[in-house]
Amino acid sequence: MTILGTTLAMAFYLLQAVSGESGYAENGDFDDAEPDDYSFSCYSQLEVDGPQHLLTCSFDDPDVNSTHLEFEICGGLLDLGCLSFNKLQEMYFIKTKKFLLIGDSKICVKLGGKNVTCRKMKIVKIVKPEAPFDIRVTYREGANDFVVTFNTSHLRKKYVKDLMHEVAYRQEKNENDWMHVNLSSTKLTLLQRKLQPNAMYEIKVRSIPNTNYFEGFWSDWSPSFHFRTPETKGTELSLLYGPVSQIIRRLWNNCARNPKK
Ligand SMILES: *[C@@H]1O[C@H](CO)[C@@H](O)[C@H](O)[C@H]1NC(C)=O
Ligand SMILES: *[C@@H]1O[C@H](CO)[C@@H](O)[C@H](O)[C@H]1NC(C)=O
Ligand SMILES: *[C@@H]1O[C@H](CO)[C@@H](O)[C@H](O)[C@H]1NC(C)=O
Ligand SMILES: *[C@@H]1O[C@H](CO)[C@@H](O)[C@H](O)[C@H]1NC(C)=O
Repeated sequence: MTILGTTLAMAFYLLQAVSGESGYAENGDFDDAEPDDYSFSCYSQLEVDGPQHLLTCSFDDPDVNSTHLEFEICGGLLDLGCLSFNKLQEMYFIKTKKFLLIGDSKICVKLGGKNVTCRKMKIVKIVKPEAPFDIRVTYREGANDFVVTFNTSHLRKKYVKDLMHEVAYRQEKNENDWMHVNLSSTKLTLLQRKLQPNAMYEIKVRSIPNTNYFEGFWSDWSPSFHFRTPETKGTELSLLYGPVSQIIRRLWNNCARNPKK
């Protein structure tokens, strides 16, 4: 660009900046109407009701007036071209056995039979698992630990069987101080010495698909379980952390390491 060109461009840019919304004013009554934003999100839940899958979509903007808006999915369906969604309040959903679980689908928002906006999606990449349930904590006095167990409906599913679970727990008085552990099984042990004695704890768990084929989102959190830790810190603690044991451990570590040198 020449210097003159650059100067002109800058002048034009400044003019636009100074005149603020002049760009819109030319559009007549555009100021009055909010630009329609029909962006939406969807998630799938496979085998939620026997062999039936559930696909749920909703507008990202909760204030969209959805009175006359419809959703439709085309492609990736068994024996069918397209399927219309049902509507329940602000949620649009389909319960069906007809998802191929291979290839792309196109999900469209429709107004008066016309496509307003469409998004391409793969049903298997937007999986939101069902929330785990029955989380419990059992104290094992002899072992000085807590066994955490929970259940998930995905153990009995054909498709989305492999999940990663995130267990979160906190001392109830430390509101935002959550500790997190990731695991793929439904059982976990927490060492007593890592928890405060005689304290109330809250614990919960959620899941996300953990395979290359099925991907998606975190499930909702399970209902919380609450438990109180025992008053004592456990015998293991005094043995492992007493000053004598520290000396013994240091000596032991030295002995264990030296032969390798
Ligand atoms: C939504 O739009 C319909 C018709 O277009 C109208 O009757 C209804 O009052 C609107 N609802 C809200 C909450 O604006
Ligand atoms: C809307 O989009 C779908 C998917 O691309 C297409 O099959 C359908 O014919 C379109 N409908 C209209 C009315 O254009
Ligand atoms: C998990 O829940 C299912 C259904 O409620 C039940 O049949 C099953 O026995 C539970 N499994 C465990 C390990 O609790
Ligand atoms: C658990 O996994 C998630 C997702 O991969 C990751 O963001 C998070 O940091 C992990 N948390 C821990 C404690 O490893």
